[in-house]
Amino acid sequence: MKKKFLNLLKQPITNSYLRKIDKKTIKKEFFYNLSVGFDDKNYLVSLINPINPKKQYTDKYAHRASQSVTMNESFKQIALKLKKRFVSKFSLESGSNDGVFLKNFTKKQIIAVEPCKNLAKITNKMGYKTYGQFWNKKIARKIVKKHFNLDLIFSANTISHIPNLKETFDAVCLALSKNGVFVFEDPYIGSVIKMNSYDQFYDEHVHLFSLLSISEILEKSNLKIFDVELLPTHGGSIRFYVCKKLSKIKIKKNVFDLKKKELLQGLNKLSTYKKFSIRINKSKKSLIRLLKKIKKKGKRVISYGATYKSATIFNYCNIDSNLIEYVVDSTKNKQGKFTPGKHIPIKSPGSGIDKNIDYAFLGAWNFLKEIKKKEIKFLKKGGKFITHVPSVRTIGL
Ligand code: TMP
Repeated sequence: MKKKFLNLLKQPITNSYLRKIDKKTIKKEFFYNLSVGFDDKNYLVSLINPINPKKQYTDKYAHRASQSVTMNESFKQIALKLKKRFVSKFSLESGSNDGVFLKNFTKKQIIAVEPCKNLAKITNKMGYKTYGQFWNKKIARKIVKKHFNLDLIFSANTISHIPNLKETFDAVCLALSKNGVFVFEDPYIGSVIKMNSYDQFYDEHVHLFSLLSISEILEKSNLKIFDVELLPTHGGSIRFYVCKKLSKIKIKKNVFDLKKKELLQGLNKLSTYKKFSIRINKSKKSLIRLLKKIKKKGKRVISYGATYKSATIFNYCNIDSNLIEYVVDSTKNKQGKFTPGKHIPIKSPGSGIDKNIDYAFLGAWNFLKEIKKKEIKFLKKGGKFITHVPSVRTIGL
């Protein structure tokens, strides 16, 4: 049974950047209540009322994974690693976005499934066969029939977006070859709790996984985890290596070790999540206090990265353009628009943060290192970043 432990209030769809903010557009904006629950049977943390994916993954999907140097490098590394470790004649990526992972393979080695038609168009143009559809048993059957069974299925930051995990994993099981492997990675609930990064809860993150929860769920689709890695990506992610239950692949010791660690962290207990919820409320108060104090001194504050994560923060903490003048983001199709819910204008970062700005809230705190490097001039002249991770604070040079 899913037990609610967190209420992040009224939230918009994070990918719904507004083109204009006239009365009609604002009236049409869609909101829902973002609350999060813990299932004490399979230890899964998920949204209480997930949105219909058809509303989210449309042909106007804005996010482009290849926007950051960090992500390009991280996808290159995992592609190299997978090619070295597993022999795969035929691979598939589910949720290929703008091809940031695919481009590390030849067009014969890999195909893709991507529900956002605008993104599928990009990778089809690049020459990678991409089915513009949601990953499910139907498409898995179609692919196996048309091509072959898959030796490798990879998916990054996608599986946690899918409400129906049973259908997803059943589709994986039927598409994999006998000794095929399924590797997927998503933000890790263990890190989210440690980092107090509650902004990882938003409409697209229908679940936040632990090893304990995923082991339970995969079991029901005749799959098992044989290896696991904790990654720094997105402020803390987990990568699962999965094969068929009957496969001879041996389960590595680190799988058992991480399970023990998760039990010690209490990821199997509702009380852990209830305590987390109290810390989130404190973090909210502390962030609002800091922003108001800075504004009172007449300082100018912007935000860096029109991320989905920051939509949660702005809407939960009621932060609008009275506190944050504008947001900068390097993604061209976010620029000139307004953030969902709080309608803060989004601009290009140009050649760096404007010299008259004093503070920049880190919407993209997970790229702090990359952003610090880019914005060294801002820091050198006394500019400071603001973050809530792991606690509310400012960051100078
Ligand atoms: P993400 O955290 O969901 O991957 O989103 C990161 C966002 O931040 C994305 O819209 C691109 C933007 N961004 C910048 O504008 N400048 C940067 O230097 C970096 C690293 C990201």
